[in-house]
Amino acid sequence: MANQTLGLGENLYNYLLAVSLREPEILTQLRQATANHPMGQMQIAPEQGQFMALLVQLIGAKKTLDIGVFTGYSSLAVALALPDDGKIIACDISEEYTSMARHYWQLAGVADKIDLRIAPALETLDDLINQGESGSFDFAFIDADKSNYDNYYERALKLVRNGGLIAVDNVLWSGRVADPEIQDNRTQKIRDFNQKLHADSRVNLSLVPIADGLTLAMKK
Ligand SMILES: C[S@@+](CC[C@H](N)C(=O)[O-])C[C@H]1O[C@@H](n2cnc3c(N)ncnc32)[C@H](O)[C@@H]1O
Repeated sequence: MANQTLGLGENLYNYLLAVSLREPEILTQLRQATANHPMGQMQIAPEQGQFMALLVQLIGAKKTLDIGVFTGYSSLAVALALPDDGKIIACDISEEYTSMARHYWQLAGVADKIDLRIAPALETLDDLINQGESGSFDFAFIDADKSNYDNYYERALKLVRNGGLIAVDNVLWSGRVADPEIQDNRTQKIRDFNQKLHADSRVNLSLVPIADGLTLAMKK
């Protein structure tokens, strides 16, 4: 028995998927289509999508933010878990990436739950704050450009309600955050961000070692 988190080798990871993944067929189709995309590795892992869907249901979320859409997997996983009157504001700058997202949202019958805003996410989030939407979101997923993580986090913290949840992707950055030899800007930004959250008394915190690392921060 281990009393620290297991490193998953391929066999154990495949076992985990075999005994727990319940991926809806439409998400499998989207994942397969995205695998052929040159940037396909940007998509979240399926077990992470399932975990986020569970979180959204646990907190009874109705209104959420998806910051970094790409081909739409995280938005679709959350949209399928939201009630019929649920809403996602989805942020991306790429018409090209998100055209596939729109297609699969339509096929899944959830397109009317997702309001895609094509603009720098900071602009979209600042617009929401200026329009008086602070404290009105239940859940936010941050998965866009890493250099803006802290900016997205500060906006998300305004926009979610007390007890709402912010989930931040790639916080383990393929292990590079723990390698002192690696000093590039993006890695350092993620390190700084992780350290800031560790000390941030505005939230309750857990860094979950799922996929590339997912920090959960609940606004107190
Ligand atoms: C890692 S991918 C998102 C993956 C997605 N969550 C999924 O489940 O497949 C990051 C996305 O952030 C978008 N992005 C990059 N910079 C951005 C910005 N300044 N504002 C909004 N989106 C941005 C990219 O176009 C890309 O689609």
